[in-house]
Amino acid sequence: MQDLAAPLFGVPGPSRGLTLLRSETEEAPTRRPVVICVGSGKGGTGKSVLTSNLAVHLSASGLRVLAVDADLGLANLHLLLGMQPQRTVMEVIETGATLDEVAETGPVGVRLAAGGSGRPDMADLHPGRIGRLVAAMDAAGDSAEVVLVDTGAGIGRATTSFLYAFGEIVIVTTPDLTAMTDGYAVIKNVAHNNRTARIFVVVNRAASALEGLETFARIERVSRRFLGRPLSYLGHVLNDSRVTASVASRIPILLNQPAATASACLRGVGRSLFLEIERRRAGAATGFGAGPAADVGAGAETRPAADISSPDARHPRHQRGPECA
Ligand SMILES: Nc1ncnc2c1ncn2[C@@H]1O[C@H](COP(=O)(O)OP(=O)(O)OP(=O)(O)O)[C@@H](O)[C@H]1O
Ligand SMILES: [Mg+2]
Repeated sequence: MQDLAAPLFGVPGPSRGLTLLRSETEEAPTRRPVVICVGSGKGGTGKSVLTSNLAVHLSASGLRVLAVDADLGLANLHLLLGMQPQRTVMEVIETGATLDEVAETGPVGVRLAAGGSGRPDMADLHPGRIGRLVAAMDAAGDSAEVVLVDTGAGIGRATTSFLYAFGEIVIVTTPDLTAMTDGYAVIKNVAHNNRTARIFVVVNRAASALEGLETFARIERVSRRFLGRPLSYLGHVLNDSRVTASVASRIPILLNQPAATASACLRGVGRSLFLEIERRRAGAATGFGAGPAADVGAGAETRPAADISSPDARHPRHQRGPECA
């Protein structure tokens, strides 16, 4: 495994000499992990495919990654990672177990805390119980540098509990108008309820890099104008039938089809996210020079209603580059 991240994450902290001045019984404070929640408006946009492959990419890049399946009741991240977990996050909620205790190790060292599937009681948990899972994610720093949270689609109570709690939100949309519109609805809710979060966008199943960028630009423009909230683009993933084949084989496409165009795109998104995690851990305040605006949410209610299908949506000026490098 390539340890690209070792210089970033291995060394910082007091030197041994300094440590000796402290009480030997005093424990160093646990560093909080970077928690990244993946959400979408519409279902089926590719959140779980993205989460599983990002987990693989970040783990291969040297980060200790914990993936948490928070699509409670309809969990399937374990299938995409080819795992058959014995324990689930329900234990965290019901017995106070830690995420590390229920997690199992999958491909490339990815740790997965699986969700339960087919349990209606999990799909409608009391907020207090979901809060236990949120707290467990935040407390996972002993065993993970990055926690990737795969959530369910939409703005249901369980999903928003995660989207409103953490500082890094990744919204996955496709170029379809309905997916964009629903994705914007989630962004609007995050903007109003999680005022310091950085909101990233991935455009999945794009026909080209240009379509990905144009899709992002339309959502970004509306978000800036009506919510006062800039967004950051993590990149696009091309529509590629080999993704479906990799899902069927239960092996992340980065591992079983590394030369596929979708794999090249996923690595591109993974590299962008890695840099953002690096920035976050270094304490930088903004991503891509575009952190939350000073007037976040201000006056949003008095502004005219957003129309994402508006023909005057800004078209980015750029040259058509390689689809994914
Ligand atoms: N880039 C892509 N190219 C082609 N097909 C894709 C791509 N990404 C995802 N898919 C297809 O879309 C399906 C749904 O993806 P996935 O399960 O990741 O969506 P989801 O957003 O997690 O869905 P849900 O909202 O139900 O949790 C995959 O099984 C795959 O067949
Ligand atoms: Mg999913």
